[in-house]
Amino acid sequence: MADQYARTGEDKRPHEIPAIRWEEPPEGPVLVLLDQTRLPAEEVELVCTDAPALVEAIRSLAVRGAPLLGIAGAYGVALAAARGYDVDDAANALAEARPTAVNLAVGVRRAQAAHRAALAKGGGAGQAAAAALAAARALHREDAEASARMAEHGLALLDELLPGGGHRILTHCNTGSLVSGGEGTAFAVALAAHRAGRLRRLWVDETRPLFQGARLTAYEAARNDMAHTLLTDNAAGSLFAAGEVDAVLIGADRIAADGSVANKVGSYPLAVLARYHHVPFIVVAPVTTVDPQTPDGASIEVEQRPAYEVTEVSVPQVPVTGAGGGVPVAPLGTQAYNPAFDVTPPELVTAIVTEEGVVSPVTAEGLAELCARSRRV
Ligand code: MRU
Repeated sequence: MADQYARTGEDKRPHEIPAIRWEEPPEGPVLVLLDQTRLPAEEVELVCTDAPALVEAIRSLAVRGAPLLGIAGAYGVALAAARGYDVDDAANALAEARPTAVNLAVGVRRAQAAHRAALAKGGGAGQAAAAALAAARALHREDAEASARMAEHGLALLDELLPGGGHRILTHCNTGSLVSGGEGTAFAVALAAHRAGRLRRLWVDETRPLFQGARLTAYEAARNDMAHTLLTDNAAGSLFAAGEVDAVLIGADRIAADGSVANKVGSYPLAVLARYHHVPFIVVAPVTTVDPQTPDGASIEVEQRPAYEVTEVSVPQVPVTGAGGGVPVAPLGTQAYNPAFDVTPPELVTAIVTEEGVVSPVTAEGLAELCARSRRV
C-alpha cells in the first residue's frame, strides 16, 4: 500500500529532501519516497508499506534513475522481510519492475542474498530482516561515497580535456541527488565544477517525453545556484553548431561488457552530435551499472513505455482530459514509438567515469580491468 503526504520543502536544499528514506513508526516500517512525478510543482512524499506499492512507484517513475532504483530495490526487500511477506516473491517482482537499469536487480539481489545468508546461519525471521535492511543501508551509504568519488574523477577529467576552464556542459535526463544516495553521477560532476568556479553554464535538455531534465535537473540546478539554461531536446544540434557546448555529461542505466551505454532516450543522438563537433562525450556511472553479463549493446533490453506518454502531456496542476490522465497533443488513437532508453556504442564514448577511476578509451578490456579492481577493494 502507498500513502501520500505533502511537505513544505520550499527553502530546503536538495540534500535535505532525501529521495528515499527508511522509517520505523509504531505501525511498522515504511519506505518513504519523494514522489518525482510531482516535481517541481509539489514536494509530496509517497509512503510504501509493501513491495507491490514500491513496484508501482518504480513503474510510474515516482522513484527513478539507476542508482536510486538499486537502493529502492534493496530497501523493498528489507520492507517485505520486516513486514513478514514472502521475500523471494517480493524480490522477483521488484527486480522485474523495470528492465533496463541493471542497478535495480543488483540492489534487490544483494538484500535478498543477505536475508538468505542470515537464515542459512540459523537466524530467525527478525535477524534475516535486519540483515536485509543492513544490506540496503550499506548500498545507500556506498552510493553516496561512490558519487563523491565520481565527482572528483569527473572534474579532474574535465580539467584535463578542457584546460581553459569555464566549462559549458550539456546534460540529459536527471542524474543528481534525486537518483542517488549522494549528489548523483553526471550532475555531481557538473556540481563539482560549479563549486570549483569552473562551470560557465549547464545546458539542460528537457528530456522528452517525461521531462526529467526540465522538471528535475532544472530544479536541482536552481537549488544549487548553478547557471543553467533549459532547451528542447531538438535544440541541441544548433547549440553544438554554434560552438556553445564544451562537453556532454550523462549517466547510464546499463553499460554492457563491450562499453555500450544504455541511457535515457536521446543520449545516442547527443553522442553522434558530439562526435561530429569534436566535443567530449562523457558517461558517469558507478561500477554497479557495468554489467559483465550483458555482452554488447544489442543484448540490452530497452524498456518500451506506454503510447500515452507521447500522445499526451501530463503536467501537475493542469486539468487532465486524456485516457492516460494528461492533455492530448495527438489525435485519439495515434500510435507512438516510446523507448525509454537508447544505446550508444563504445566508439562514440570519450570516457566512462566511475568511482574506481576513468576508462578511456572505452574498451571491453578496460572495463573488465575496472570491474576486477572494484572487486578487489
Ligand atoms: O527513466 P528514468 O528517469 O529512470 O531514466 C533515468 C536515466 O536515464 C538516467 O540518466 C540514468 O538512470 C542515470 S542516473 C544516474
